[in-house]
Amino acid sequence: MKAPRELWTSKVAFILAAAGSAVGLGNIWRFSYVVGTNGGAAFVIIYLIVIAIIGYPMMVTEVTLGRKAHKNAIGTFKALAPNTPWWIVGALGVLAGFVILSFYSVVAGWAVSYFFKTIGGSLGAGADFGGVFVGHISSAWTPILWHAVFMAVTLGIIAAGVVKGISRSVRILMPALFVLLIILVLRSITLPGAGAGIAFYLRPNFSDLTWQSILGAVGQAFFTLSLGMGCMITYGSYLSDKDDVPDNAAWIVGLDTAVAIIAGFAIFPAVFALGFDPGAGAGLAFITLPAVFAELPAGVLFGAVFFLLLSVAALTSAISLLEVVVAWLIDEYNWTRTKASVIIGLLIFLLGIPASLSLGAVSFNIAGMPFFDFLDFLQESILLPLGGLLTAVFAGHVWTANKTREAANTNRGKIQLGSWYDVLIKYVVPIAIAVVMLFGLIDTFS
Ligand code: PHE
Repeated sequence: MKAPRELWTSKVAFILAAAGSAVGLGNIWRFSYVVGTNGGAAFVIIYLIVIAIIGYPMMVTEVTLGRKAHKNAIGTFKALAPNTPWWIVGALGVLAGFVILSFYSVVAGWAVSYFFKTIGGSLGAGADFGGVFVGHISSAWTPILWHAVFMAVTLGIIAAGVVKGISRSVRILMPALFVLLIILVLRSITLPGAGAGIAFYLRPNFSDLTWQSILGAVGQAFFTLSLGMGCMITYGSYLSDKDDVPDNAAWIVGLDTAVAIIAGFAIFPAVFALGFDPGAGAGLAFITLPAVFAELPAGVLFGAVFFLLLSVAALTSAISLLEVVVAWLIDEYNWTRTKASVIIGLLIFLLGIPASLSLGAVSFNIAGMPFFDFLDFLQESILLPLGGLLTAVFAGHVWTANKTREAANTNRGKIQLGSWYDVLIKYVVPIAIAVVMLFGLIDTFS
């Protein structure tokens, strides 16, 4: 006998879990480094536009499809369009979950080890912050060890089940993370020389933009909102039909965007004030933030709490990535939750090993980049935008915008989807993604 499918215990539980999925390393680690490598303010503006006209409609759409079918990412497409190949969109999502979590867990492991480095005092004033970071990620064993610990915790929570495992931690995490980020912002913007960083972050120079960076903004928007890979479909599937979708979606998108924008104010003024390079790449947050903590009274304490919170934020995202794969195996193949969590968790851990090693311990390149960067490129430039594009075509034209809109509007919340939604999901979203993907990929490979 199969246990009945779980449902979120309350409306708040869903918002918390979905916001927990959205807010993670993407808002702090990834957001700051892609803004830094793509020239700053102009990229941020494109990112915000993408969030509004693609991110929000996609969030509503994915949650609605999941709630309608009460199925995993693949099962949802099978249920809404039986005997068609549309389930492949869900399969792409499951693949993306695999790919993303493998390197995501490696970065989460960095955050965990930075918690201990901060406490241990190796990141105090005058430390060689860049050197510590490069030393850490390019060593063979330590990052893999923390990656293993992080994956073990992730699969433990997922094995325990959706409601118990997921919604608890987020309640404390979100407010605490907000408070700490604000403290960081205050220190960062008052450092002498911070002005240049604020200008970099706020004063756009559109001649910096390339198609490649616009595709990067679309990819980052999908990544940070956990879209384009069936994650919000899966989380939506645990919503009851009485719950509201358009309002909840607005909360999730708003919270996630706020955290990213605030994180930028914590990082960029300090980057310039302390003489770091905004284009430093994947290390930007790990190099800059410890340097800001070193400038704060009781910096060790703040630093330790921050990296702890970042680790927990990463955890609530990681569990949503694993849940996409696990829910599929439970629904479609009757695997037990424990079996699915353990086997998939282990496989993802294994894929993360070469990703971690490729950052310096061994040389392992694919398409001219370290394997780690290749996995990130694959999800950002191909898997998530393509998943989003196909999901929009499905909701707008196959299942039809009319049905999706009505399925979303079952409650009398503040936001009601109108004909503007139809226009966005049928035309604006798919065409915009298609154009950006086409030119972005040409740009990348030429
Ligand atoms: N949104 C998460 C973050 O910003 C990452 C993530 C992507 C989670 C895709 C689930 C699905 O850290």
